[in-house]
Amino acid sequence: MAKRPKVLVLFDVGEPTSLDVDYTEDLKSPTWKTERHVLNALRSLGYPFSVLGVHDNTALIREMISRFQPDVVFNMVEQFANSLSNETHVTSYLELQGVPITGCGSIGIALAKNKILSKKIASFHGIRVPRFTVHEPGKIVSMGEELEFPLIVKPVHEEASYGISLKSVVHGPEELLSRVCYVHEKFEQDALVEEYIDGREIYVGVIGNDRLQCLPPREMTFGKNVPRESRFASYNVKWDESYRERWGIKNRFPSSLEKQVENKLNQTCKELYRALNLKGYARMDFRLTAKNEPVFIEANPNPMLAKDEDFALSARKAGIDYPKLIGRIISLAA
Ligand SMILES: Nc1ncnc2c1ncn2[C@@H]1O[C@H](COP(=O)(O)OP(=O)(O)O)[C@@H](O)[C@H]1O
Ligand SMILES: [Mg+2]
Repeated sequence: MAKRPKVLVLFDVGEPTSLDVDYTEDLKSPTWKTERHVLNALRSLGYPFSVLGVHDNTALIREMISRFQPDVVFNMVEQFANSLSNETHVTSYLELQGVPITGCGSIGIALAKNKILSKKIASFHGIRVPRFTVHEPGKIVSMGEELEFPLIVKPVHEEASYGISLKSVVHGPEELLSRVCYVHEKFEQDALVEEYIDGREIYVGVIGNDRLQCLPPREMTFGKNVPRESRFASYNVKWDESYRERWGIKNRFPSSLEKQVENKLNQTCKELYRALNLKGYARMDFRLTAKNEPVFIEANPNPMLAKDEDFALSARKAGIDYPKLIGRIISLAA
């Protein structure tokens, strides 16, 4: 039997921390679901592991690595000093420690998280993306003459649908101006304005470094009473359970997706994954038009790994049970 790798698991914590913190109680909380699932998987794989919460102290990471001498760092850190924009930097720091890390490297994270650059790269590769413009705070909001309403207005640096609500979809210049100003004032960042792509919301998990495997797609579906233009993943749609229930919103395996369409999605995913320098595992988000054309919305490096989230559910459908998935991710650590 191959030697079991020693795994150092790093995850985000919201406050200054130290070595040897006992997280037993925290791990019981629903918000620690992903960490709990990953650690349980490591236990069932029999991998020796240690954990470290990361807040804003790189020295602790170094100290932990030198003390524990891990073979692999399982990287679940998505922010540093409470800032999501530090994900790239903290990943670079981990790369400099000379220990293989799971998931995507800093370059892939930097490219994929940049909603403008990633679409430009996709477009270069002939992959359809929504046409877009960017509005900087403090500049006159000119009408992107080539864009057609409805448009969707998003804060350029947020994630998890922060700042995306039903009001994000605008139908004319007045609504556009008002929503762009809202993004500038509330988020103090550029507003990304894209053509709203009417269609199905599809997520495809990809796993691998050189040889890539696309997992069975997932679809977010909406109840009959939800108007077409409200069928997108706003903040409430993603995170508010009672809202989801009220509007019949579900994440599921699509009941009807022709093999040909799935093949096209998979081919597009692989191209994007390589073009964006992604490694380990990622989830690609698309809108699928009425003509079954995939339109690339976003790539998510290191997507949520909880057992009951889309990525792991897709893996399970592909015959990769949860511990096996975690083991695979560890073996892909570069
Ligand atoms: N151009 C678009 N057309 C249609 N829906 C969109 C478009 N852009 C974003 N959305 C919807 O908003 C959701 C969140 O947008 P996304 O760009 O992925 O931001 P985040 O990083 O916050 O997840 C998408 O999953 C999709 O449902
Ligand atoms: Mg997204």
